[in-house]
Amino acid sequence: MEQLVIHGGNPLRGRVKIGGAKNAVLPIIAAALLGSRGVTVLEDVPALEDVYTICAVLQSLGVRAEYEAAHHRLHIDATKIATVSAPYELVRKMRASFLIMGPLLAREGRAEISLPGGCAIGTRPIDLHLKGFEALGAEIEITQGAIHARAPHGLKGALIYFDFPSVGATENVMMAASCAEGQTILENPALEPEIVDLANFLNVMGAQIRGAGTNRIKIDGVPSLCAADYTIIPDRIEAGTYMVAAAMTRGDVFIENAISEHLKPVVAKLKEAGATIEEDIEGIRVRADGPMQAIDLTTLPYPGFPTDMQAQFMAMLAVAEGTSVVTETVFENRFMHVDELLRMGAKIRVDGRTATVEGGAALFGTAVRATDLRAGAAMVLAGLAADGETRVGYIHHIDRGYDDLVAKLVALGADIKRADAEWTEL
Ligand code: UD1
Repeated sequence: MEQLVIHGGNPLRGRVKIGGAKNAVLPIIAAALLGSRGVTVLEDVPALEDVYTICAVLQSLGVRAEYEAAHHRLHIDATKIATVSAPYELVRKMRASFLIMGPLLAREGRAEISLPGGCAIGTRPIDLHLKGFEALGAEIEITQGAIHARAPHGLKGALIYFDFPSVGATENVMMAASCAEGQTILENPALEPEIVDLANFLNVMGAQIRGAGTNRIKIDGVPSLCAADYTIIPDRIEAGTYMVAAAMTRGDVFIENAISEHLKPVVAKLKEAGATIEEDIEGIRVRADGPMQAIDLTTLPYPGFPTDMQAQFMAMLAVAEGTSVVTETVFENRFMHVDELLRMGAKIRVDGRTATVEGGAALFGTAVRATDLRAGAAMVLAGLAADGETRVGYIHHIDRGYDDLVAKLVALGADIKRADAEWTEL
């Protein structure tokens, strides 16, 4: 097993190019299952473990998925689907595998999927997905850890209100409704840019979706969809992670491809903490000359502050001046990075969904774990700002969501490398 070895203290300087968004490409790959004619070609597909996992899920259904890593291009031929049953070993690895249920139901009228796994950041139920499918006329049965969904007479358009604007449920139901008979209206859907990207892709495939990115999405069902060519939007969370890295190492980094419109809360909070930010059409420049200042933040569904940036900001606030309060409202168990930051000398108290971060800690390097994907990113950031050597283990979590992290950081002047871990990961 490998680990990351980091020697902290170098300010990051230069340019870094952001890849395609993990959270946009995963549902788009699932949506490619709806292309019953032709071959889908996706551009700017990041080389990530999660992408390989969802490709393996498609392959297990008898669909051809070929990734050209050198060009970040993915070809998907879903003209034939051999089975509608996804194997447990793959679904267990990644919660987003469940996104194949909507397309399979719409196209094949049937799907069988194990209950999903993924990062251990709360109970993460799938009730909203299932409620949406049922509203479209599907019959759902849960037996022995698997979900069986059937729509023997096809799906029918419906008015669906989401109790919470779940990203995955909005995507899954939007894909299913694309080929339902008649009109579907989604009320209180998620507003994330990844929802808009998925709707744009489905529309290129021939779907009739209006209003994605607003709180009322209208979908006029069509009988079938064709394969399509599409370029994935840049990853706002990867961009945000490098923005925080620049600020907390007192560096100066131009984050190429970062879209300001998608990063408003991250930009606002970094400015409030004292970073200098310049936004232009090609990207975002982040600079800092001195230490960051304490800020309070609360995670919320988009356009609020993203839960996927909470851990990285926590690492920054641990070395900022003053006391910050971080409130997590989206997931109930997303403070696992706190224990690891404490091991590096951070001063943080957790009470329920709120963490109080007493800044000004001089972090010191030690052995820590990436407890989930974004927690892993936070440990890397802490290591870049710490004195001495930080060793981050369990980096398979980081590989799920950061393409070429080490090379990108090294190009910015960081002292970081992959090395064999001395311990055995359990
Ligand atoms: C997606 C992102 C993830 C991000 C999250 C919130 C992908 C592949 N992953 O995850 O990186 O952290 O959005 O921005 O895009 N919930 C229910 N019932 C459901 C579904 C969700 O109660 O049926 C709850 C969850 O437990 C959680 C909250 O809703 O507390 C948000 O979940 P959701 O928006 O669905 O996140 P994901 O789609 O899983």
